[in-house]
Formats: sequence, C-alpha cells, structure tokens
Amino acid sequence: MRLILLGAPGAGKGTQSKELTKRYGIPQISTGDTLRAAISSESELGGQVKTIVESGQLVPDEVVIALVDDRIKQPDCKKGFLLDGFPRTVAQAEALHTLTGIDFVVDIDVADAEIIQRLTGRRMHLASGRIYHLANHPPKVPGVDDVTGEPLVQRPDDSEETVRKRLAVYHEQTSPLRHFYSHYQARAGETAPQYVKVNGALSANEISDTLFSLLDKSRSMQA
Ligand code: AP5
Repeated sequence: MRLILLGAPGAGKGTQSKELTKRYGIPQISTGDTLRAAISSESELGGQVKTIVESGQLVPDEVVIALVDDRIKQPDCKKGFLLDGFPRTVAQAEALHTLTGIDFVVDIDVADAEIIQRLTGRRMHLASGRIYHLANHPPKVPGVDDVTGEPLVQRPDDSEETVRKRLAVYHEQTSPLRHFYSHYQARAGETAPQYVKVNGALSANEISDTLFSLLDKSRSMQA
C-alpha cells in the first residue's frame, strides 16, 4: 500500500501514521522528522534547513524531493510506504508521480482554531517520535515519556506565532493539493490514487477506525 497523508500542520498526520504503519506493516516517511533529525545531528543538510523549519516556512522543493526519492528506493519500501507531510506543494506532487504510483491519498480536515489549540499543547518524545497533548493525550506522568521516562519537549515551531505562519503557508501552498488529488489527472499507464477525506475533528481513535475500515474495504475490492 502506497499512501499519502495530507492535512494542515497539527491535523493529526503523525498520530494517524503511527496507527496505519502498525496495521499495514509499511514504513512511515515523515519529511518533517527527517529534517528535524538532520537539524539535531548538525549535519550539512540540518544547517541549511534549520532556520527555514523553525520559522515555519517550507524547505525548497528540490531538497525534499531528493530525500523522498532516496527513501522510497530502500528495500523496506518494496511493499509500500506512508508519506507523512509530503508532498506539500503541487511541484512536489508532480515530481512524486514521476517516481512512483500512489494508491491512496487521505486528507485529514481540521479547522484552524482547533489546530492552534492542538499544536500549542503538543509535547513530543524526540527519540521515538511519540506524540502527546497536554489536555487531549497527556503522558501518564507529566512531562515525561510513558515508555522511557525521558523528558518531553515542545517543538520550536509550535509557538502560537509560528503555528499561525505555518497555517498561512499551508493555505497558500499545500491546500491546492486537495483539488489536485480530488481531480487527479492520471498519466498514461498510471492508475489514479483514491482520494479519501476524513473529519479530523473526531477523536484520534474514531479517525483510525474510519480509515481502517475504508482502506480495508478498498484493498479487498482491489484484490
Ligand atoms: P512536519 O513535521 O511535517 O509538521 P506539520 O505538517 O506542520 O505537521 P505536524 O507534525 O505539526 O502535525 P501532525 O499533522 O503530524 O499532527 P500530530 O499528529 O502531531 O513539518 C515541519 C516542518 O518541516 C515544516 O513546517 C517545513 O518547514 C518542513 N517540511 C516538512 N515536510 C516538508 C515538505 N514536504 N516540503 C517542504 N518543507 C517541509 O497532532 C498534533 C497534536 O494534536 C498532538 O498533540 C496530538 O496528540 C493531537 N491530536 C492528534 N489527533 C487528534 C485528534 N483527533 N483529536 C484531538 N487531538 C489530536
């Protein structure tokens, strides 16, 4: 299964990715996680993108397209993959479809006001990528990861001011992908991905259950 998760910052892409990758046995490819890992390790790429990522702007298309191109060629992607946070511009989507076919595009729809509440309350365990929320999904012990007991952190781009910038970037550059995928023009020899929109205001469990049932049904019809 080759799957794209679309959605605004904080729509719940990372949260749903964890459930979907577990159920379907495919790797999660998060361009955001890859860029943050490069920043933490102070690699050359990290140095190039740090200011861009932390200010809520988009990294240049050619940089993320090269990352995804490399990643989907790895052996663990043979049976499929889940793209979390890519593509984010029409140019990235056009490039992606020259590299691989895609089976499903899941669009998680959440209102801006809810996004601000979600992101300013988010806390992360950096090493594992586990995601918490101060009110909606608190850790068992405040401030620490449930599994390792290590401290949780707030992402530098989760301040309210930067979240508002990220939302503006989303509406300008990423939301056109909704039309791109709901009216997808398949190229010769290509099957158009199935576009599925879900109500991201539901609880995380309700969204996972909805997605499992939609994806299971579509896969059994394709088999
Ligand atoms: P990235 O890391 O991809 O961030 P994002 O898209 O802004 O999304 P988030 O990770 O903030 O949110 P999410 O949708 O995963 O929500 P989550 O599940 O955590 O990108 C970061 C930066 O990297 C970009 O700004 C850009 O600079 C760069 N970048 C990355 N990809 C790029 C690309 N392709 N091109 C160019 N630049 C790129 O949930 C959020 C919170 O809500 C959590 O606290 C969670 O517990 C809670 N929550 C989740 N679901 C629910 C629910 N249903 N109900 C209530 N609360 C919920």
